[in-house]
Amino acid sequence: MTSDEYNGDDPVSRRDFLRGGLGGLAGVTALAAGLGGPGGPGGPLAPESVAAQLAGRRPADVKSVGLQPGRVRLAFNENPLGASPAAIEAVLSHQDWMNRYDYTTTLQQAIIRHHDLDIPRPSGFDFKATGDRHGLMLGVGTTELLQILALQALMKHGEAVEALPSYGQITRVGDELRDAGYMVRARRSPVLPDGNHDLDDMEKQIGDRTGLVIICNPHNPTGALLPHDRILDFIDRVPPHVLVAIDEVYVHFARDPAYRDFVQVAKERENVIVLRTFSKVYGLGGVRVGYAIAHRDVIYRLAPFSMGLLGRNVLSVHAAAAALGDDEHVRRSRQAVWDGNDYLTVELERLGARVIPSHACFLWADFGRETQRIVRELWSRRVMVRAGAGQWESPNHIRVSTGSREENEAFIWALERTLG
Ligand SMILES: Cc1ncc(COP(=O)(O)O)c(C=O)c1O
Repeated sequence: MTSDEYNGDDPVSRRDFLRGGLGGLAGVTALAAGLGGPGGPGGPLAPESVAAQLAGRRPADVKSVGLQPGRVRLAFNENPLGASPAAIEAVLSHQDWMNRYDYTTTLQQAIIRHHDLDIPRPSGFDFKATGDRHGLMLGVGTTELLQILALQALMKHGEAVEALPSYGQITRVGDELRDAGYMVRARRSPVLPDGNHDLDDMEKQIGDRTGLVIICNPHNPTGALLPHDRILDFIDRVPPHVLVAIDEVYVHFARDPAYRDFVQVAKERENVIVLRTFSKVYGLGGVRVGYAIAHRDVIYRLAPFSMGLLGRNVLSVHAAAAALGDDEHVRRSRQAVWDGNDYLTVELERLGARVIPSHACFLWADFGRETQRIVRELWSRRVMVRAGAGQWESPNHIRVSTGSREENEAFIWALERTLG
């Protein structure tokens, strides 16, 4: 069946919409009054407009930032609001710089200020910045930094430990090196049923050859958040030759107000590195900037594996620096994700899925049955989400990124019809 065969005015979704917040005729009247429309704010709506609202939004109705109309892409944890407006302005105001290599310290200085790092003199002729103790490294997204961490740890020590399922960059590097004949190994530690890292298991997997353990918090793809103290206790138990990487690319979406991130710990300890990105809350996924904070000696050890200064890009540097100061965009993006997660959680549970409370910009939903066919059908309806099979070894799961209100509604509209 193709997407074109579906009729958006299906009474089922109308009934569910009413059940979701409005009741009977009173609800319709309230909706018509609240929506504004041809008669102005609060005025009566044409009956067909009310019907369209009640039908739920279809993928064909959606226009997402940065995509062709009619496509709903909830597969890559992108920011549905788009880039920080300050970043867009910075790109436009640097358009005449594109013939120039970037030798500014703009981004390093912005990050140093933002995290209060003790790095007095960053150099424009370097891709890293170090002080007596603190070190900062820029990357082509956090992915480059994960690649560097994996290469350094595996080449020097031989083994690394990463959760399963997870973003998986460390494992990818380990497996590829192993296939190429290197005597290295990426060990995988299954997450617990609540979606959290099994820190006891990870500790057990650490041996003499382990150079790196990575903890992603909040975790991708489960959205689970480990309390700060549990991770700190784990760091205390890890032998000093093991570097602990804390991947915090989703930290802005953590919903626990008491949660403390690991920047301060990375500033104080010699075996902790924190990773951040501009791809998520700042809306710059396509611009490719990430950074790492660690002890300066850690940064020096990683440096030979980096592309270096010429991995820096004059437009992305200024976009990222501007985005870092755009508190309003961060606030709006976070709120949009929280609202979207609330809506999606209710709807997914209504449709029979079990959802782990999410501290990130996506949800990990267990359908209790194989999901690959569901995901394929959603794709045929122009809604892109990720199946848990394959890399994540979770065949009953779907990971859906949090979209705009319209995208989320279109996903639920399509899912409802896919499940039948
Ligand atoms: C957990 C995690 N780490 C790192 C990354 C890499 O992000 P980027 O390379 O865009 O900075 C992602 C991207 O989705 C991610 O989910």
